[in-house]
Parts: sequence; C-alpha cells; structure tokens
Amino acid sequence: MKLTSGIPIANYFDKDVYAKEMECFFKNNSNYIGAATMLKNDGDYRVVERLNDAKILTKKDGKINLIENVCSHRQAKMITGSGNAQTITCPLHCWSYDGNGACTNTPLFNGTKEDYPLEHAPFENWHNLLFTGKRSFTEELKNFAMIGEMNIDKMVYTKTFTDKLNFNWKNYIDGFAEDYHVPFVHPGFAGFVDLKSISWIDHEHYTSQIFKLKDRAFLESHKTTPKYQQWIKKFLEYYPITLPKFGGILIMYYPNVMIEWYPLFMAISTVHPTGPDTCVNHIDFFHHQDVIDNHPELRDAAEAAYIETADEDAEMCERLAAGRKILYEEAREEQGPYQAPYEDGLVMFHRYYHQMMKAQQK
Ligand code: FES
Ligand SMILES: [Fe+2]
Repeated sequence: MKLTSGIPIANYFDKDVYAKEMECFFKNNSNYIGAATMLKNDGDYRVVERLNDAKILTKKDGKINLIENVCSHRQAKMITGSGNAQTITCPLHCWSYDGNGACTNTPLFNGTKEDYPLEHAPFENWHNLLFTGKRSFTEELKNFAMIGEMNIDKMVYTKTFTDKLNFNWKNYIDGFAEDYHVPFVHPGFAGFVDLKSISWIDHEHYTSQIFKLKDRAFLESHKTTPKYQQWIKKFLEYYPITLPKFGGILIMYYPNVMIEWYPLFMAISTVHPTGPDTCVNHIDFFHHQDVIDNHPELRDAAEAAYIETADEDAEMCERLAAGRKILYEEAREEQGPYQAPYEDGLVMFHRYYHQMMKAQQK
C-alpha cells in the first residue's frame, strides 16, 4: 500500500465524515451568489439557487439588495426563478414586498405593514461578483496579483447551467485542482493554452493557476476538435495582430468556488454537496461586453468549446469516483504520487483539507 498526503478513500463516502465536512467547510464559508450584471434594470429579481432559494437578489433604485425569500406572515417560501416585477407577492395570502424588502400590502390587516419587512442579508461586491457568508471573499482575495489582467468588471453574465452529479463533491475539486489530465482528457482545450507555461499561486484561502496561450503559428495550424477549432478561429479573427498576454487565469477559492477566466470569456462554477455521494454544480457564463454587443458567433463558439471540456471533466470525475468506490467496498486504501508541477494544486487542496479537518477536531 502506498500512502501519501491525499484524502483517505473512506472520506469520499462516509456519512460521518460528510457531516463533519459540512460543519468544517460549508457552514462558515463565503458563498458566491451571482453577479451585479444579472440585475440590469430596476425591478429585476433573481432567487439565489446556490442558497437553496433562501434569498432573493433584487434591484431597486439602482441598488442591489439581498433579501429573504421567506414570507413574514406565515413563513412560506415565496418565489423561484428570476424576472422583473415592482413587487414580490407571496402566493398564499398575498402579502407583498418591494425590491427593498418593505412590506407594501397585507390584505385584511390594518396598519401592520411597516412591522414586517423582509430581512436584508449583507453581501460583498468584488468586481461585480457577489458573495455572502461568514468569511470575506474581498478580504481573502485582496492581494490577488492577477486581478489587473482579468478585466472582470467588463464581463457580463449571460446564462447558468446546473448539473446534478452522482459523486462526492471532492472528486470535482480534485479534477479542477490538477492539469496533468489535460492533454489526455481534453484534446481541444490542450490545443488552446500552453500547459508548459503553468504557474501556481498557493494561498491560505485559494489557489490560482495561470497559463499563457499557444502561439499564433500553433493556433493557426493545429488541428483540434471541431468545437475548439471554431473558437480558435473566431478568437484569432478578434485578435488579428496581437494575442492577449494570458490564456487562462483560474481561481479555486476554497472550498467550492471555481472562477475560470479566459480572454473575453469567464465561467464560475460552484459545487454544492447534497449528500456523501451526490452534489450539484451551478455554472455561470460571462462574456466581455464587446463580445455580447458585437460578436455573437465568438460567444457561441466559446460556450460550445467550454461545454465540451466540462463534459470531459464530468466523465473524468465519474471514473475517479467509480475507482474509489471499488476500493471503498473492498476496504482498501490506495493513493498515488503527485506529478509536479501539474498536480501542485491538488497537493495544495489536500493540505488545506487536512488542516481544516484537524482544526475542527480541536
Ligand atoms: S404565508 Fe405569505 S402571505 Fe401568508
Ligand atoms: Fe479538466
């Protein structure tokens, strides 16, 4: 048996470990809840699925709010989804609230409205990305050196995908935290970024991996998957002279927020455990304002290529989970070595995991 500093096999399946992880990683974390660009006009609202629909993002008088989705009257969950409305109305007895949470109508009651507003929750706005929770994303990322390269303020939200996954949440983070698999699992993506240029940032609260692009001559001549071929073609048309300095800046904000920035395109995934063997992944897509306004074919090509890579990752995670299940059922412990530098992020995530679990024991 070879044992390294990885996560024990049983921790991917055990119910008690799962309960401890919920306390340790998720109870006091900082949750990514969406983006300011999801709410363009006054009256826009969006129920936060990532918080189990507990809160609603609203825009009123140009200001974004995060308010309760639980009615002040008899505590019903009021709405789902997103839209535009001047008032939020609970369907049960028609109490209504404005986008600021003020109660505006309580049928058949006299003079009680002011006493029953919806509570506001505090949240942070980091370059138009919104976070709430006990930790402070803004504080923990304040020294992130690559932010100036990312133009995040120009990135505009377009859509969300939700994937229900039948494996433990850590399999997904394990896949995100290493690039050793990229040439083998992602033939398309591997032809876009220059893996050899990888560098890592190792921080107490996050890791970041940074890549350059392949050079123009390579991008122009290399035959890759049709979806990446299309993205690269549109990308080179957008940049006819000089290519961007970086091809990818990825942040793994512990324990479950993954920000993937590529030139002109960004995806934010958050993996939420729903049991020892299941999790849900919500993925938000963003594009540079100029792409949204003027280059829809570049937008579509980037999304199609990204989804190809995401599907390949989901398949990889299923294999990781299946192999670990075989060992778990045979009560065996196996862990392999870490490749450097491509699996450095995995070493960082596993070290963080052990530190947090140990701290919980004290
Ligand atoms: S529970 Fe919402 S109005 Fe009664
Ligand atoms: Fe991958």
